Amino acid sequence: MVKDRVVITGGAGFVGSSLCERFLADGHAVLAVDNLCTGRTSNVEHLLQNPNFTLQIRDVSEGLDVDGPVGTVLHFASPASPFDYLALPLETLKVGSVGTLNALELAKMKGARFLLASTSEIYGDPLEHPQRESYLGNVSSIGPRSVYDEAKRFAEAATMAYRRSFGTNTRIIRIFNTYGPRLKPDDGRVVTAFLAQALRGQPFSIFGDGQQTRSFCYVDDLVEGIVRVLDRGDGMPYNLGNPHEFTIMELAERVQELLGPQRIVYHPLPADDPKQRQPDISRAKRDLDWEPKVQLREGLEKTLVGIRHSLGLVP
Ligand SMILES: NC(=O)c1ccc[n+]([C@@H]2O[C@H](COP(=O)([O-])OP(=O)(O)OC[C@H]3O[C@@H](n4cnc5c(N)ncnc54)[C@H](O)[C@@H]3O)[C@@H](O)[C@H]2O)c1
Repeated sequence: MVKDRVVITGGAGFVGSSLCERFLADGHAVLAVDNLCTGRTSNVEHLLQNPNFTLQIRDVSEGLDVDGPVGTVLHFASPASPFDYLALPLETLKVGSVGTLNALELAKMKGARFLLASTSEIYGDPLEHPQRESYLGNVSSIGPRSVYDEAKRFAEAATMAYRRSFGTNTRIIRIFNTYGPRLKPDDGRVVTAFLAQALRGQPFSIFGDGQQTRSFCYVDDLVEGIVRVLDRGDGMPYNLGNPHEFTIMELAERVQELLGPQRIVYHPLPADDPKQRQPDISRAKRDLDWEPKVQLREGLEKTLVGIRHSLGLVP
């Protein structure tokens, strides 16, 4: 007897597939809905034999078609790496807007809980540091990254409107840079880019002078945070991320400690690239008793295993 039926849009993606695993392990049935535009079937292949797991290949922006009861809708569908959303600008706007409305409508129809995967990008290039949930952001509405940032801002507004208008039981999380073994090696995210470059014997690409900061959260910590937001959180946004801040240059040094010295090639900083990004997670700590546990070294070692696999470097 399953406890709940959970719909996860973007379930074949990096974070979505880890959520599928977690909810199945916790005794739920899971329907993953994904159009595979940036995800991979291989992320959930190992789950396909599980009778409580279904993968439906579908574009969430074209509507959702789900029979039977649903207790929880987790809306994770969206290109997420800058490389992907810059290549898919209109699809990103559409899934953040129409796709989010479709997922909210499903939750409303089924009387289900709804959780939106929003992002630290809604803070833009922040003028407040670290960023609290109350910070309203410094976002360009016309720069190349706006397709992602503004789509997520719309998605948050839509989620709050469903809560206010229909009493839908909603949650919003703002995810800060998360990494783990299922990230694709070439989608432009810095952790996997450095690991893949080191494994291929290529120089590290650093954009700008490498002094811009990021905080890196291991995916298992994020998944635990998501479960706690669902079970114990309220309807206002929660920052979920690792508050420990590193410069990109420090990250490069950590990867070199694992894989040996590499050359560095510097490139110009892309438009609207934030200089600093660090979550204030006091709200999650206080309400959910949550904070990340996995240290960067351990997370990098686990991620390295996945990247070796993706690059075909293990038999
Ligand atoms: N990983 C991070 O660091 C991070 C940070 C902030 C926010 N997020 C958010 O978390 C979610 C998952 O990100 P991820 O890192 O796993 O990225 P991902 O690209 O691995 O996963 C996104 C998934 O959504 C699917 N998808 C995209 N558009 C779709 C559509 N129209 N219909 C159906 N499926 C669609 C993709 O095929 C993919 O499987 C995204 O909403 C992203 O904005 C992630």
